[in-house]
Formats: sequence, C-alpha cells, structure tokens
Amino acid sequence: MSDDKFRDLQLSDSALIIEKPPGPRSRELLQKQDQTESAAVSYPKAIPVAFEEGKGATLKDVDGNIYIDFFAGAGVLNTGHCNPEIVEAAKAQMSKLTHNLDFPTPIRAELVDELLSLLPAKLRNTAKLLFVAPTGSDTVESAVKLAKFNTGRIGMISFEGAYHGMTAGAISLTANKSLKENLMPMLPEVHFLPYAYCYRCPFGKESSDCGLECARYLEHVLEDPKSGIVDPAAIIIEAVQGEGGSLPAPDEFLREVRRLSGEYCIPLIVDEIQAGMSRTGKMWACQHSGITPDIMTVSKGIGGGLPLSVLVFDEELDVWEKGAHVGTFRGNVVAVAAGVAALRFIKKHKLWKYAARLGEDVFLPRLRELQDESRFIGDTRGKGLMLGAEFVMDKKTKRPWTEFAKDVRKACYRRGLIIEIGGHFSNVVRFMPPLVITRELAEAGLEIFADAVKEVEDANKDTAVTIASSK
Ligand SMILES: Cc1ncc(COP(=O)(O)O)c(C=O)c1O
Repeated sequence: MSDDKFRDLQLSDSALIIEKPPGPRSRELLQKQDQTESAAVSYPKAIPVAFEEGKGATLKDVDGNIYIDFFAGAGVLNTGHCNPEIVEAAKAQMSKLTHNLDFPTPIRAELVDELLSLLPAKLRNTAKLLFVAPTGSDTVESAVKLAKFNTGRIGMISFEGAYHGMTAGAISLTANKSLKENLMPMLPEVHFLPYAYCYRCPFGKESSDCGLECARYLEHVLEDPKSGIVDPAAIIIEAVQGEGGSLPAPDEFLREVRRLSGEYCIPLIVDEIQAGMSRTGKMWACQHSGITPDIMTVSKGIGGGLPLSVLVFDEELDVWEKGAHVGTFRGNVVAVAAGVAALRFIKKHKLWKYAARLGEDVFLPRLRELQDESRFIGDTRGKGLMLGAEFVMDKKTKRPWTEFAKDVRKACYRRGLIIEIGGHFSNVVRFMPPLVITRELAEAGLEIFADAVKEVEDANKDTAVTIASSK
C-alpha cells in the first residue's frame, strides 16, 4: 500500500487557515440559517462554519480556509468527498434516468451484484435485499417491521449507548435519554441492556477477568420467566457503537449475543449503518467476530455521498407481502449509480485493509502516546478508522469531562481540523475520517488534535489542580 495512493483526491495545502473561522462569509450564512431554519439544526451550533467544497478528506469553507476532515459527514464519506469515480457515475445516470420507484434497471441489478459479492460469506448466498428510504433511520424501521412480521412479537432489545436514528421506531431504540424526553413511548416494550463498555463496565469488572457479565445478563433476562421482559421481536446491536463513543464490543460478547438470539429464536439485527462499508477495518463490523446477522442495516457509506439505504436479511425472513414496505424515493437510481461506483472503489482498493492499517499504524499509536502524556485522556480505543479518545477529569475516578472534549473540538476547528464528539457523556472525541485520507493528512490532523489538547489542558490548569486537591 503506497502512502500517497489517495493524494490526488485531496485539496492541496490542507490544513490552511487564512481567515480566523468563522470568517465573514461563514458568519453571514450561519446568521441566515439561524433566522430561517429550525432551532433543531445541530452541527453548525458546535462547529460554526459554512462549507463550499470537499475533496477526499479535506474541506474548504466559504472564506477559503481548508480543513482536514476527521468526521466524514458523520461516517457517510468513506470513499471521500466528491470521489471522481462516483461523481462521474452519478452524472452519467443523472442525464439518463433520475427516478424510477422500484422498477428494475440495469444499474440497480449491478448494485445488487456488487453488494451481494461483498456480504459476509454466510449471508451472501441466502440474502434478500430491500431498498428502503434514503436514511439510516428508515432502514432500522424496516428491520423492526420485518422482525415483527416474522415473530408476531412487539418488543425489542437494544443496548445502552445505542444510536439507531431519529424516526419514531429508531429513536425508541436509541439510548440517549435527552433525545427522548416527552416523546416516549413510541415503540412499546423496548428494553436496554448493558453493552460491553469495558472502560466503564456496568458490572464494575475489569475486562481481563469479567466472565462476560454483560452477556450473562442478557442470558439471564431471556431465560428467567420472571425477568419482566417478554421475548422480543428482535435484538438490535451495533458491533462497534458509533455515537455511543467509538466502542468496539469484544468479539466474545458479540458471539454470545449471536448464540443466545439463535437459541431463543430471536432475529438478530446488526446495525452496520455507521460501522459498515470498511469503516472498522473489515467490510462489515460484524466480521471481526465472525457472527452472521439475520438482518443487517446498511446506509451512510453505501451511496458514496448520496442518500441510499438497503436492508439485507436472510431469505427465510422474506415472508411479507407485495407493498409491505414501499416508498417513493427508495433506491433512487442516481444514488444507486453512485453506490455501484462506491462499492467498486472500495473493492478495487480493498479500502477495509487500508483503514485497518492506517488505524493500527498511524492513529492508535499516536493516540496511545497522547493518552500516556495527558492526565485527561482516560481511554483510547476503536477499530480501523472508527476511533475515540475519552476525556476524564481524573484517570482513577474516570469522572467524565464533557466540557474538555467540547473545547478540544473547538480548538481543532480553529486550527483546521473538523472533528466531532460522542459517547455516553459527550466526552469522547471521535476519529472517523474518510477512508481515503492519506497518511500525511492523518498525521497532520493528529498533530492538530495534540496541540488542541495541550491548549485546553493549559487553559484548565487551575481547574485541574482544584479537582486534584479536592479529592
Ligand atoms: C448506527 C446508526 N444507526 C442508525 C443511524 C441513523 O441514520 P440516519 O441519520 O441516516 O437516519 C445512525 C446515524 O448516525 C447510526 O450511526
């Protein structure tokens, strides 16, 4: 693998701050957005900028500043911003046929072939595909619906820290309490069980000697007739939690979840919306543990930047009738053409291997060095290019430090790095660049992060001393 293989995909001169961000044009557009769009707008509240151009793992704002992108549009742009092969494919399709409902087309058939060829081996020969509405959330809705159709049950088991989207069913499966206040119940009988968050084990165990308590608890809930949880229509899980804080579940935990769901005849939905499409160093995050889901949700990266989502499931579950889950924009043909190009690009470059190497050789070693150097980075973790650094006030107590993570995000932005935070306490800085980032840009971005941490540490010197002496 040559280190500069993706160099031509990027804007040159990254990162380059020529106008203190947000610059005047950004401010103008932000103000207009503030006046005209809903208070629900989110990302620009944390990173106040207006972008004009994106290439590979780089972004240019309307004032001419160039940023390194460690966020990839919330994990969509695995093949990079404006990947030329994808742009060409979408343009060609755009001038031929732009909307097609679910009639077959040659390009749709190509997408099916490409996707099937990349599925986990055991699913490849038995999979049925359903093009669902363009968002990940709708993919989750359709997965739940399919599971209910098959089992005749209504409840669901999800996990603490989970994020599955914002539509009624998907938000019900999402663990974030503040998003749900005054809204529930939408989907009834949803139960959240402990995820294998080993840094903060809900059972107080050390991961070296934990007896997989989290899996045992799931087993207990399923086997105890008085656990209070009726057998659900499905269990839904992310193999690596994204919004939960770049948390990879240990393989043994996932294998136990798979074993138990099989034993109790509960379909297992693995949500690959963020962790799939090569992000974690394998094409699908579930492949690290070797488990095969009954149902898999695919979105974000599959459209190469255009909205496209697909539900993948075992053919035995395909018991619903014509029209059971239809919609106007499902499998939009331009997005499908972009998706074919994205999948071919991923395959041609074995993007999962590139992500795995960059994560192992560049990101994790530097993050671990920074963890050793800083009193406030309690944990660094992740797989491939889905990584996180968790900020704490004190490494012993692990008290989360949300403001620190937010200030690091801000300091990164001012220096030319776009990065987001997540985690149970919003105290995890997340590293998820487009997978076509060059080694050079990755290293430059990591140094910006290191400088930002130093800046926030210096600004908090007194706070840190107060916290330490108040113990
Ligand atoms: C794991 C997972 N599932 C579902 C979703 C929802 O996708 P969307 O925002 O496209 O509705 C997300 C979005 O971040 C996600 O990360």
